[in-house]
Amino acid sequence: MIHDKLFPFPQNFLWGSASAAYQVEGAWDEDGKGPSNWDLFVRIPGKTFKGTTGDVAVDHYHRYKEDVRLMAEMGLKAYRFSVAWTRIFPKGKGEVNEKGIQFYNDLIDELVVNKIEPILTIYHWDLPQALQDEYGGWESRQIVEDFTNYAVTLYRHFGDRVKYWVSLNEQNIFTGLGYRMALHPPGLKDDKLFYQVNHYANLANASAIKEFRKYVPDGKIGPSFAYSPAYAASSKPEDILAAENAEEINNHWWMDVYALGEYPQAAWNYLQSKDLAPIVESGDLALLKEGKPDFMGVNYYQTTTYEKNPLIGGVTEGHFNTTGKKGTSKDTGIPGVFKTIKNENLERTNWDWNIDPTGLRIGLRRITNRYKLPILISENGLGEYDKVEDGDIINDDYRIDYLKSHLKAVQESISDGVDMLGYCTWSFTDLLSWLNGFQKRYGFVYVNQHEEGEHDLRRIKKKSYHWYKEVIEKNGDNL
Ligand code: BG6
Repeated sequence: MIHDKLFPFPQNFLWGSASAAYQVEGAWDEDGKGPSNWDLFVRIPGKTFKGTTGDVAVDHYHRYKEDVRLMAEMGLKAYRFSVAWTRIFPKGKGEVNEKGIQFYNDLIDELVVNKIEPILTIYHWDLPQALQDEYGGWESRQIVEDFTNYAVTLYRHFGDRVKYWVSLNEQNIFTGLGYRMALHPPGLKDDKLFYQVNHYANLANASAIKEFRKYVPDGKIGPSFAYSPAYAASSKPEDILAAENAEEINNHWWMDVYALGEYPQAAWNYLQSKDLAPIVESGDLALLKEGKPDFMGVNYYQTTTYEKNPLIGGVTEGHFNTTGKKGTSKDTGIPGVFKTIKNENLERTNWDWNIDPTGLRIGLRRITNRYKLPILISENGLGEYDKVEDGDIINDDYRIDYLKSHLKAVQESISDGVDMLGYCTWSFTDLLSWLNGFQKRYGFVYVNQHEEGEHDLRRIKKKSYHWYKEVIEKNGDNL
């Protein structure tokens, strides 16, 4: 519906911005930190764009005070960051590394003093390599205990000041890219293992949420799901069914478990028929039901459009654009289930990501209708090339347009009745974009860091920095 008048943003709305440890911190082997799976993976030739690593990233570890000062100056209400597990437990478990605790205590204190609500992500993909070596990391049920122990350690040390927590960041992405597409560590293509790994991650998530209630009873916790709502390519019933299949297998497969504690039926039956369903032991389903979140964290970047994919000769593996050369991605699919297809109604970025603010509203409404949970947008943003003009000026109007249109969709969804806790842009400063190096930039603050050579890492406010400052000041009234 088209609203004549939009509801205002709530007064306590969390106007935020987000980051992740590996992408910003650097200091990869300092102060007792152990190696993570990403520290090793990026060293394998050909894995990342121009071989970029997070060894230095944007040096937030040493410059966090400067970064928080920039946040405070902007009037940012919330900052979502992740903890590097290997700073707290260099080997994933055992003795706590006090210097790691100290770093996050200092960061949290700095945020609190500046009246910025800390939103702590427990796990944003950087698994201790020691756990991968010992028992295959997420491939073993042992991870549930070790992850829970790590989470409880964070609750005990930071729960007095941190009231918003994200359990797992994009479980669907780190399991999928790690175990189906071989694009993330451990770089495997094994569908059966993928579903088992994902089941253990579900158990770890539920177990950590269950424990949270004891340690931070006045806090809120939820996972961050990478939600790409499914569209049908046409009104042909077979395309609509393909989109339904995709919504079930790519989205409900995770969100139903988080919110309802159960796997969706059609997807389960399909996977069982292919001998891909995970082994579920007694007690697992009870635990899943005990780990219900307080909110659904949503990382939204784009919608995906689907059509029928024939069983014989259908499309299988696609191709990800990690170079920034527009038009180089390739459609993907599961024969007999769905295939993706370019949506001609949408503009795309240079990395072939669809720009679709209405898709965000559609997704938020779907979640609200199905799960009746509040929503925190834990990521939304535009990865693009930025150009520094004379006098350190960056006119990123395209980013302002992107964020403005998505925020408008958020306001429309609030008017539709969606319970929104807040909105975190991705990202505050520029950062390392995992596989895409530093040229795919997301921040309000430019960081002079590149794939090659040494750079001064200086921070430069982009035009979007000033724009978001004003949005926050006016509580979104000027959209
Ligand atoms: C999300 C992740 O998948 O999207 C972030 O949580 C990531 O860590 C972001 O950076 C954008 O993806 P990319 O591949 O463009 O960096």
